[in-house]
Amino acid sequence: MNILHGNILFSKSYDELVAYEDSYLIVENGKVREICSVLPEQYKNAEVTDYGKGVIIPAFSDLHVHASQYIERGLGMDMLLSDWLNQYTFPQEARFADMNYARPIYDAFIDDMIKHGTFHACIFATIHREATSYLIRRMEERGLYGYVGKVNMDIASPSYLCETVEESLRETEQYLADCQNHKTAKPIITPRFAPTCSEDLVKGLGALGKKYHVGLQTHLVESRWEAQEALRVYPGYKCDTEIYERAGLMENGPVVGAHFIFPAKDDIEIIKRHGGHTVHCPDATTNIIAGIMGVSALHRDGVNITLGTDVGGGHSMGIYTQIGRAVQLSKLKWFYEPETASPITFTNAFYLATKAGGSVFGKVGSFEKDYVFNALVIDGMEDLDFPLTPAQVVERFCYIGTTENIKARYLGGKLIG
Ligand code: GUN
Ligand code: FE
Repeated sequence: MNILHGNILFSKSYDELVAYEDSYLIVENGKVREICSVLPEQYKNAEVTDYGKGVIIPAFSDLHVHASQYIERGLGMDMLLSDWLNQYTFPQEARFADMNYARPIYDAFIDDMIKHGTFHACIFATIHREATSYLIRRMEERGLYGYVGKVNMDIASPSYLCETVEESLRETEQYLADCQNHKTAKPIITPRFAPTCSEDLVKGLGALGKKYHVGLQTHLVESRWEAQEALRVYPGYKCDTEIYERAGLMENGPVVGAHFIFPAKDDIEIIKRHGGHTVHCPDATTNIIAGIMGVSALHRDGVNITLGTDVGGGHSMGIYTQIGRAVQLSKLKWFYEPETASPITFTNAFYLATKAGGSVFGKVGSFEKDYVFNALVIDGMEDLDFPLTPAQVVERFCYIGTTENIKARYLGGKLIG
C-alpha cells in the first residue's frame, strides 16, 4: 500500500483530461486503487508521501524509438531520409555487431529513457541478434515495459548491414524463442521498412509472427519517397500497409506503424481493420522526413494515434517535448491545408503520449482504477507568484521543462532512483 498526496492529472480520452487538486492517490499491489479528496478513515494511520503542489501524472510511452541511434542524437540533421540512412545511420548501426560498442550505448539509452520519464517503449535495435538480446534483457531486468525488435533488412542495403533471407529468419526465430518467458519487455517483429525488405523475407516473418504470437513494428508510409519505393519493390500491392497484411503480420499481436504521413485510403482501411497503432514523431518529421502527419483527420477517421521520439531521426529523448511539438505542427498543417486539417489541443496530445500509447502495453498510461501505477511527479514550473493549474504546470513542462522538473518516478508502484 502506497498513498501519495498532491495534484493528480491524467487523460480519460482524447478530449478529456481530468485533474484532482489537493487529493490522495491510493496504490495497492502496484496498481491504482482510488483517488480521493479526503483520506478515508481506514487509511488514517497509513504513511502518506506528500508532493505538495507537485503534479502526479502517468509515465510516458514512446511508440517509436531506435535505441541503436541514441549516439546519433542531434547529428546529421540537415539531411533527408535516404541520405541520412545511407551516409549516416547505416554505417553507425553496423557497429552493433561489436558487443563492446553496443553494451554501453544500450545501457545509456535505457538510463536516459528512465530519466526522461518514459517507462514504456517500442524500440528498434539493429539486425544484430546478440546486441538486441542484450537490450531486451536489460529492459526486462529493469522492469520497463517494451516491445523490442531485431531489425530485418535483406535488400537495397549496404553489404555491411544486409542479411540473406535465411539468415534474417533464422536469427529472428532464435531471438523470439529466447524471449518467450519475458514479462514486461517483449519481442516484436521489425522489418525496417518495405524498401529494404523482400517479399520472401516479409512472408517468412509472417510465419514466425503466427508461430510465436508476436506483433509487428515498422516504418509505414513514412515519406513520399518511401511510399513510392514500397510499391516499386512490391508491384501488384495496393499500398504499403497491404504488404504486412498479406504476409499475415497484422494478426498476432500489437501492430505499430511509425509516421503514417502519406497514407492512401487503403492504408487507413487496413490499419483500422487490425486495430493497429500509428505513431506521430514530430521531431523526426521536421528533421529528416519533411511531411506532417494528419493527426486531426486520422483521429476523425478512427485511426489509433500515439507519439514517438524516433531518436535518432528525432533529437530529443523526452516524449513530453513531442507533446508540445505535436500541437505546434498541427497548427502549421492547418495553416497550409485548412480544408482537411485542424489544430489539436494540449489535452489531445497529452492523451496520445500517455493513455493512447500506454494501451499498447496493457493497463498503463492512466490512473483509472486498476491501472499499473507507473507515474511521474512534475514540479518547479511556476515562476514569480503566478499560480498555475495542474494542467498548466504540465503543459509548460512539455514546452520548457527539463528532466530536473521530474521530481519522482514510480514504476509498478515503487519509487525508483
Ligand atoms: N526508415 C527506415 N529506417 C529508418 C530509420 O532508422 N529512421 C527513420 N526515421 N526512418 C526510417
Ligand atoms: Fe524510425
